[in-house]
Amino acid sequence: MCGIFAYAGGKDAVSVLVDGLSSLEYRGYDSAGVFLPKSGAVKTVGAVDNLKKKLSQQPLEGTSGIAHLRWATHGEPTEINAHPHHDNNKEVWVVHNGIIENYKELREALKKHGCNFVSDTDTEVIAHLISYNLAKLNDFEKAVTKSLNELKGTYGLAVSWKKEPEKIIGARMGAPVVLGLGDGENFIASDTTPILRHTKNVIYLHDGEVAVITPSSHNIYNLNHDIINKQAEVIEWSAEQAQKSGYEHFMLKEIMEGPEVVRNTLRGRLIVDSGLAKLGGLESVKEKLKEIERIIIVGCGTAFYAGLIGEYMLEEYAGIPVEVEVGSEFRYRKPIINDKTILLAVSQSGETADTLEAIREAKRKGALTLGIVNTVGSTIARETDAGIYNHAGPEIGVASTKAFISQITALALFTLFLGRQRQMSLVTGKRIAEELLALPQKMEKVLSQKEAIKKIAEKYAGHKDFLYIGRKYNYPIAYEGALKLKEVSYAHAEGYGAGEMKHGPLAMIDENFPTMAISPQDSVYEKMASNIQEIKARKGPVIAIATEGDEEIKQLAQDVIYIPKALEMLTPVLTIIPLQLFAYYFAKARGCSIDRPRNLAKSVTVE
Ligand code: M6R
Repeated sequence: MCGIFAYAGGKDAVSVLVDGLSSLEYRGYDSAGVFLPKSGAVKTVGAVDNLKKKLSQQPLEGTSGIAHLRWATHGEPTEINAHPHHDNNKEVWVVHNGIIENYKELREALKKHGCNFVSDTDTEVIAHLISYNLAKLNDFEKAVTKSLNELKGTYGLAVSWKKEPEKIIGARMGAPVVLGLGDGENFIASDTTPILRHTKNVIYLHDGEVAVITPSSHNIYNLNHDIINKQAEVIEWSAEQAQKSGYEHFMLKEIMEGPEVVRNTLRGRLIVDSGLAKLGGLESVKEKLKEIERIIIVGCGTAFYAGLIGEYMLEEYAGIPVEVEVGSEFRYRKPIINDKTILLAVSQSGETADTLEAIREAKRKGALTLGIVNTVGSTIARETDAGIYNHAGPEIGVASTKAFISQITALALFTLFLGRQRQMSLVTGKRIAEELLALPQKMEKVLSQKEAIKKIAEKYAGHKDFLYIGRKYNYPIAYEGALKLKEVSYAHAEGYGAGEMKHGPLAMIDENFPTMAISPQDSVYEKMASNIQEIKARKGPVIAIATEGDEEIKQLAQDVIYIPKALEMLTPVLTIIPLQLFAYYFAKARGCSIDRPRNLAKSVTVE
């Protein structure tokens, strides 16, 4: 997830663009850059403040231009990889949000036509491609449209050409683009945030639409260059609301982004017919992975719980022994490691000190280290030997929600990858791939129950203690659900393996101690039902997360939230959603500081 912003008007473009980027900063902060066709480009590593400083030393002039905030996907967050990217002659400049899947093929073909690539990004290929087509067509709009037809993947982009400095072309395919229509000025952006300061009249582009703006005009085309008539809408949101896409908190916005996040984590990584996972980040260690005999997964907090789910998946489907350890404990044991051991670190930020120290310790002992990391170019991404990026986009809320869902998805991909290197059958591989692809739609079904979940959360808002129970794949979900409630609402919540209830926690249960029972219809359903009975017999209120069609559970639970049926190993992606929403609405009902809970920080860089 990156932020793009473009301006064509009569004002000082640098002020408009930089001001707009500041409001888009939640979309990325790895690097920032602007290009004004009348005077050139300035780029920096880091967030907008760094760009402002550099622009004060290297001022740019002009009344139109394009700007970008990067959330790195291809290539480290360096200045050379910062957008805007350009062609050989520095005449065509592009800002882009998305992933170009066929960039390697295009890059090789364009190199043969003399294009010199300077960055590691997929975006640079777009600038060269447009330039190549411009040389043949000598028509800016047609050259952009032709180039878009040659791209595979996702984009929300804006293009500027030095020879037509007042004109900017925007386009959308799978990544949001909105036009802002002002008085003598027009805008293109990733969302309405930077536009709302100037105008409330907007047009949202659909996939396959191309917009051409100048200070006094705007036109929209399809990819055949046929004109499309679209009416402007009037936005009522404030700029602050727009940053959160109208949601009151980042936590809710990020929960609602779940289906899109799963699509992004999976994009281009499944070959369904062969039942295979294609993981570019593991290519360099692919052969070594065939010999691996043991995996140690390390993470902290939510990432640790994702690791526990990974343990069940990898042992069941890849047949490899797995241990999971919290980062803060790993190096105080004497872990037995050899060159057939992998240490797999799971981390959203890629900066968690405890996880990082575990990686360093494992490396010292000769393990191959891998990462499942969301932040490209982070310390963990750099220090591990290879890995899988989540592509979940920046997570702003301190409570990890969408990153957790992406971590489970990435672990499923890793399981498929290793499983198919070993004994996993084609049929099983295909089944996992198909079930993964079906997840986003199922997640949408769970999310559509958010108002009902809100009512349940409000009903229980007066309670001080909660128990979360689950078994097998949903045992770690009990811990993660409880963690969510604790950190955003400060209520006391405990996660337990349901089978452990009778070994102690059952003593706490009475009519004031509700239990969240994660009980989808899976291989441990009957056992879960017995555990719920035990709670009911002690008058404990039960909220059950169950599978659609399970009417029996209504006899045992006061409240039931249903999820669609799914492959057992993937049910955690669905069962966690009601628990995230419950924690959110529970905390909201109690007036808590949801996005920034007391005493906590998003990135924990101390041991
Ligand atoms: O950035 P990381 O994934 O390494 O962070 C690990 C934990 O600090 C993090 O998951 C934390 O537990 C969250 N606040 C949970 O919501």
